[in-house]
Amino acid sequence: MTQPAFSRDEAVPSSVIDRRRTFAIISHPDAGKTTLTEKLLLFGGAIQLAGAVKARGEARRAHSDWMKVERERGISVASSVMTYDYAGRVFNLLDTPGHEDFSEDTYRTLTAVDSAVMVIDAAKGIEEQTRKLFEVCRLRDVPIVTFVNKLDREGRDPFEILDEIEQTLALDVTPASWPIGMGRSFLGCYNLFQERLVLLEKGTKGALPSEGAACDGLDDPKLDALLPADAVATLREEVEMARGLCPAFSLDAYREGHMTPVFFGSAINNFGVRELLDGLAALAPSPRPQPARDRVVAPDEKAVSGFVFKIQANMDPKHRDRIAFVRLCSGHFKRGMKLTHVRTGKAMVIHTPVLFLAQDREVAEEAHAGDIIGLPNHGNLRIGDALTEGEGLRFTGIPSFAPEMLQKARPVDPLKGKHLGRALQQLAEEGVASVFKPMIGADWIVGVVGSLQFDVMADRIRTEYDVPVIFEPTPVHAVRWVEGDDARLIKRFVDANQSAVAEDHDGAPVFMARNAWHLDKAAEEFPGLRFEKTKEPV
Ligand code: G4P
Repeated sequence: MTQPAFSRDEAVPSSVIDRRRTFAIISHPDAGKTTLTEKLLLFGGAIQLAGAVKARGEARRAHSDWMKVERERGISVASSVMTYDYAGRVFNLLDTPGHEDFSEDTYRTLTAVDSAVMVIDAAKGIEEQTRKLFEVCRLRDVPIVTFVNKLDREGRDPFEILDEIEQTLALDVTPASWPIGMGRSFLGCYNLFQERLVLLEKGTKGALPSEGAACDGLDDPKLDALLPADAVATLREEVEMARGLCPAFSLDAYREGHMTPVFFGSAINNFGVRELLDGLAALAPSPRPQPARDRVVAPDEKAVSGFVFKIQANMDPKHRDRIAFVRLCSGHFKRGMKLTHVRTGKAMVIHTPVLFLAQDREVAEEAHAGDIIGLPNHGNLRIGDALTEGEGLRFTGIPSFAPEMLQKARPVDPLKGKHLGRALQQLAEEGVASVFKPMIGADWIVGVVGSLQFDVMADRIRTEYDVPVIFEPTPVHAVRWVEGDDARLIKRFVDANQSAVAEDHDGAPVFMARNAWHLDKAAEEFPGLRFEKTKEPV
């Protein structure tokens, strides 16, 4: 492999990078993620896409429909990345799968964003899945803007919501806007960041609300003219209280992931969306430097680099084509470029990248740091793989997670063991599930983070590989990657625990513990080894 010179004197104009905002929305199902996505696209002028997002949101509600939608993957490929312009910025919104179940896909999409929007239902507060996704963001200090949704319905008191975010997530909160009333008496919000009163205009569903009235602080008599007296009094009182209780906004604290500015709104009424977008445009980070094994890659470096964070099977199951989604970390990518696939050292000419960056997708020919490109391939690209102009970079922080649910997989037809093995291997490389081959026995252990994934896998293995498969309970309670600096010690452990050791799809050794005690015992007996819950790509 050649080592090109990494001169930065011809760096990409920083404005191209500074303009980009690559983010995801995290939320619990039904909080309003689909609705908000649609409205963000509406404000961004990509209206024609909005309907597609909504249709998917509805279809997703029924599992059977959802499977069908998943099979018609054309839709999900197209809406995996949604790009729109707003306020001179290019927003790349990465979709996190929205069904109730949780998948590694969701985790890994969050490794490809620079910030996130957390949507909370005003009546429900922080729910289980929001908390889980938040924890993933926290691992990487991803800055989060919060959007409290459904203010047009009776919900919790705003102070209670702020308090819950702070307590549950151990995160500093500061209001970016303040709601005036709630439910039927919801009148609008006062934007504390822009000193602007924005009122809900009833009967204008579908239209974009006005930008509101600029105010000279909360004492501005304009407020008295525009709002009923009791509403103004409450607003002034509550904001004063909130300012006393919450720390002032700090850009550094937000960018470091310690503080979340909180916007209030009602996505379905297009309300609060403009303020949220303005907030993201002004505050959210542009593409951040990406950590690699030997160094940190700056977004304005001239050489192109990126990593695969998601693999999606293509529309046509017969050809088994896959699209690898690559987050560009640096450089100016152009269609037709030759890049090095670092894991294999092979050169790849990128003839037909799926580019998501212009409004008119047809003519997009180039991409920059922060953008996502989709690369059709036959399975040679894996999650975590790096693509560069020659440097042997290995990006870090794109881990596999030890699955929480484990089952044994066996083919209905015992003669199809090999076929099943191949199907499982490919699905594991795609990141659909973790697959482990025990050293002893013919079965496979499959691990997922949400039980619906077993159904998805069984369906795909049957339809795409023609192998009916049965998933059954297994006595394996937890799996841990066995790591250590001394290869001989690892071998000694493997030899001594053959019945409880498997290999993952990369051939890395994995300990299959029967219970917590079994795990503790192994750690005690082999203090020189680490039993890891996560594994970085090889
Ligand atoms: P999700 O992607 O997070 O799962 O949520 P989604 O946007 O699909 O919204 C879940 C439900 O909440 C939908 O109602 C949606 O219309 C509603 N919703 C979203 N934003 C608001 C809001 O600001 N106010 C109110 N009152 N409702 C909101 P649904 O009845 O399940 O579906 P639909 O028939 O309305 O599409």
